[in-house]
Amino acid sequence: MDRQIRRIASTRYGVSIVTRVCIVYSTKRSKATVQVVGWLKAAFESNGLEVEAGKPEELNKLNYDLFVLGTSVYGGAVQEPILEFINQNQDLLTEKPVATFVVCKEVETPEGHMNLVIEKLPKEPMTWINFEGYVFRRGDFEKQRSKADTWVKEIISQLS
Ligand SMILES: Cc1cc2nc3c(=O)[nH]c(=O)nc-3n(C[C@H](O)[C@H](O)[C@H](O)COP(=O)(O)O)c2cc1C
Repeated sequence: MDRQIRRIASTRYGVSIVTRVCIVYSTKRSKATVQVVGWLKAAFESNGLEVEAGKPEELNKLNYDLFVLGTSVYGGAVQEPILEFINQNQDLLTEKPVATFVVCKEVETPEGHMNLVIEKLPKEPMTWINFEGYVFRRGDFEKQRSKADTWVKEIISQLS
């Protein structure tokens, strides 16, 4: 039985059926960003959407309805592979809805980091968010999970 939920998106992105979500991320460690991606993936899936998540080099056919792009921050810089991905997929990212996130320690003005990604996009993302990562100890990093869940609901409601 096909239990997949089809969501009709009639928004400024045009009418489309959003079923497949691609989370493209880049980070150097298997820590906060990888965990955030796992939470986002689980949240989309629990809403009935199909999700593929991977680093740019792990993704082949980019046959998706929504792109979620994320990067960690080290030394004030976002990850080069995510900028490269944007550079190489300008047409696709013009056509499809895009949401972006950044994982960093800066919580007061995270837009400084996020803008390094947004300025490379061919259009404004539908929404962006920052997650507070960690350097060594996870501390209360787990609190970021509800932020991820809420953000996914917001994305889905914008597309519905
Ligand atoms: C070497 C290093 C440099 C960092 N530089 C910054 C920075 O410039 N600005 C910031 O907000 N966070 C900075 N951070 C915090 C990271 O963004 C945070 O540790 C995040 O969780 C990294 O993602 P990851 O856990 O997926 O590696 C830095 C962390 C490390 C380890």
